[in-house]
Amino acid sequence: MMRPLSILVKAWLACSLHRMEQVCKLSLLSFVTWATLGLHAMERQLWDANWRFALADSANMAQPTFDDTSWRVLNLPHDWAIEGNFYVKNPSGAVGGALPGGVGWYRKHLTLNDSDTLSRYVLHFDGVFMNTSVYVNGHLVGIRPNGFIGFGFDITPFLNKKGGDNVVCVRVDNAQQPNCRWYTGCGIYRHVYLLRSSEVRVAQWGVQVLPTVKGHKATVALNTTIESFAKQNRKLSVRQSLYDAEGRRVAQSVTGCVARMGKTTVNQRLNVSHAKLWWPNAPHIYKVITELMAGREVIDRDTTTMGLRTIAFDATTGFSINGQPTKLNGVCLHGDLGCLGTAINEDALYRQLRMMKEMGTNAIRCAHNPPAPELLNLCDTMGLMVIDEAFDQWRVGKTEFDYALFFDKWAERDLTDMVLRDRNHPSIVLWSIGNEVLEQWNTTKKQGVDLDDVNILLNNARDPVRLAADKGLSDNAKLTRWLADIVRRNDPSRLITAGCNEVSPNNHLFKSGAIDVVGFNYHSKQVANVPKNFPRKPFLMTESVSALQTRGFYAMPSDSVRRLPGKRRPFIDPSFLCSSYDNSCTSWSATHEATWDVVKHTPYCSGQFIWTGFDYIGEPTPFNFPARSSYFGIVDLAGFPKDAYYLYQSEWTMKTVLHLFPHWNWMQGQEIDLWCYYNNADEVELFVNGQSRGVRRKANNHQYHVMWRERFEPGTVEVVSRKGGQVVAKRAINTAGQPHHLRLTADKNTLRANGRSLVFVTVEVVDKDGNLCPWAENEVLFSLEGSATIAGVDNGSPFSLERFKDNRRKAFFGKCLVVVQAGNEAGAINLKAKSIGLETAEVKIQMIDK
Ligand code: GAL
Repeated sequence: MMRPLSILVKAWLACSLHRMEQVCKLSLLSFVTWATLGLHAMERQLWDANWRFALADSANMAQPTFDDTSWRVLNLPHDWAIEGNFYVKNPSGAVGGALPGGVGWYRKHLTLNDSDTLSRYVLHFDGVFMNTSVYVNGHLVGIRPNGFIGFGFDITPFLNKKGGDNVVCVRVDNAQQPNCRWYTGCGIYRHVYLLRSSEVRVAQWGVQVLPTVKGHKATVALNTTIESFAKQNRKLSVRQSLYDAEGRRVAQSVTGCVARMGKTTVNQRLNVSHAKLWWPNAPHIYKVITELMAGREVIDRDTTTMGLRTIAFDATTGFSINGQPTKLNGVCLHGDLGCLGTAINEDALYRQLRMMKEMGTNAIRCAHNPPAPELLNLCDTMGLMVIDEAFDQWRVGKTEFDYALFFDKWAERDLTDMVLRDRNHPSIVLWSIGNEVLEQWNTTKKQGVDLDDVNILLNNARDPVRLAADKGLSDNAKLTRWLADIVRRNDPSRLITAGCNEVSPNNHLFKSGAIDVVGFNYHSKQVANVPKNFPRKPFLMTESVSALQTRGFYAMPSDSVRRLPGKRRPFIDPSFLCSSYDNSCTSWSATHEATWDVVKHTPYCSGQFIWTGFDYIGEPTPFNFPARSSYFGIVDLAGFPKDAYYLYQSEWTMKTVLHLFPHWNWMQGQEIDLWCYYNNADEVELFVNGQSRGVRRKANNHQYHVMWRERFEPGTVEVVSRKGGQVVAKRAINTAGQPHHLRLTADKNTLRANGRSLVFVTVEVVDKDGNLCPWAENEVLFSLEGSATIAGVDNGSPFSLERFKDNRRKAFFGKCLVVVQAGNEAGAINLKAKSIGLETAEVKIQMIDK
């Protein structure tokens, strides 16, 4: 039988609480209050547990009688590709992560004991990659090619209701590859819900919340769509109640209506007298409870999270929130969670966002597709602003089997659903209708390029003769308008952008007039021409930087910039390493410092979205296989920050930063460049084995680091920062001796026994005094005691072909990572790490009740 709220949802809420506590007390309060009031969707059950899965394909698998007893039993979310081996011939190519694809089936029984013959059932998927077909009792209920959008099917007509057994079968087809320019994962990789309602209900994504704020007052317009399957008209009322973060009801409205078969919309308005605003550093959350009532009986209930804020993009002053000019200091993120693949996990997502927030990021661009709903929920409560993006291609594909094949038939539906699903999130400040779509230029069908070169070719300058003519609207401009109109129809409250790597105003997208905020990908040198080329238009760097860095590796001299891969193709460098000084980037981009300098000093630039916050699987530019994940991240795939992290922290936060790099293990007499990022100080002095090597100061506000060039001698390098002669901070790095033991650092010491929570354990190879051995590559073997499993291992290397699902990992520049996933029993768990020739280490984690 259905329960009001599944145990797992409760557990998720509980662990959200646990996590939120660290960032945002306000949202903590709101969650506690909501949970205790019991105000939640009554008949929404998380339907993730106990599916059967096989990586195989046969039409018989849709039949209820099919014998699946030998299939593996698993809990969703699930990504089968991450469980595979890297292989050069996997059809995704290195660009897609070199992991397997294929066709997989999931099956699950649904036993109903529902005496109400009128109740309706919807099976909702937050995201399945890709080409999904859903069957119930052998009947095809529906399909959805797009792998990034959520979708639901009303399965009622296919069910045996009275005490009957039903079989739900889901076929997932990711066999035709390449179909994407990055790793997408395979399978039901987001949550699944089963919803039960009466024959009249609030439609899916049927509540639209449109707040307007004026001073201390706010008005919230609410448009509620009711969906009825009843033959007779029903007299109902809609009760809207608005609660603040402390759980106080601050406004209510009840409106009568007649629900006819099909859809009926009810419009209401709530007034708030003391509006508490949603700010990035104080994200005040309100909740709207929508109740559909027949007389005094509540027949459906929906909860919407919302925030009160104003946003504006201005052609002269850039972006502002609540009237406060604010740079969007953003990062682009793809959807994978490193060694966990794309299988969504709230703890892993939270870890990524927390690290970004601590770096000073205030905004995320979901590249290049609608994200998991959990990402938006977290951004709402953590105060991160979001660009929600729909597509990486329109009609003309970038890879052979990509979404261009489905665009004509599905684009309107997919774009509409993205906006309907996401439009109430206060975190979203802008919609993007596309990333670097080829319709920026004149197009002919079949424009896709060779997979190995896709990102390189797409980023090189295009032929000016393929730009829009000065008069008349081209087909591509009309297509732009069509898509923008779909967005505006469903959400009049936000502006629209697109990530464009053609920065001429004769780009067909710009020419359409439908792009509200001019979005440049790269081309920071053209930013100065924006007011001339795009008069009165707001401007944003939708994508920037594309630095190429390997954590722990440094190419000297540090003051000459390497632009890779250069013109020679294929580009071969057998080291597969890129430098972590800010001296390495792609040929179409610029370094971190050079880009930030433009953004920081250009008032009309609303901000930038750096490519990327985290490394991701796929797109190993400038290399090819065995490289199989990106070098672009400010943080590596395992979640270890590269040095650029501290550049941004020093610029974007008030926290005192003093970051000296690289390590201090070199050859005697070797000339080494020592860089230091610092803030809150006037000067920094370097000491090598106690001897001063000089004081350095940033000459002006265009300088972002200071540097010394020193000959290596073993011992200690130390920096001291001072302000007005007073010491602000000190940092020292010692030359490490031989690897001696392992140091384990867990990111938490208690874990909820809910089967999903994660602890991330950093493993460092250190010398006898605890100094990190920066060149160490020792292989580490993990074992666990207690109710937990290893969810994944990694070391941040973009070219390691070791498996992500394993109990061993080599260190990479001294470090690796093991991710431990909670089981379901409380008690202690003990993680042991061993490596030949090194002292063993262990860490204890206490599992507490869910
Ligand atoms: C951009 C593209 C991104 C990524 C990046 C690499 O052109 O939008 O998806 O490919 O280049 O530099």
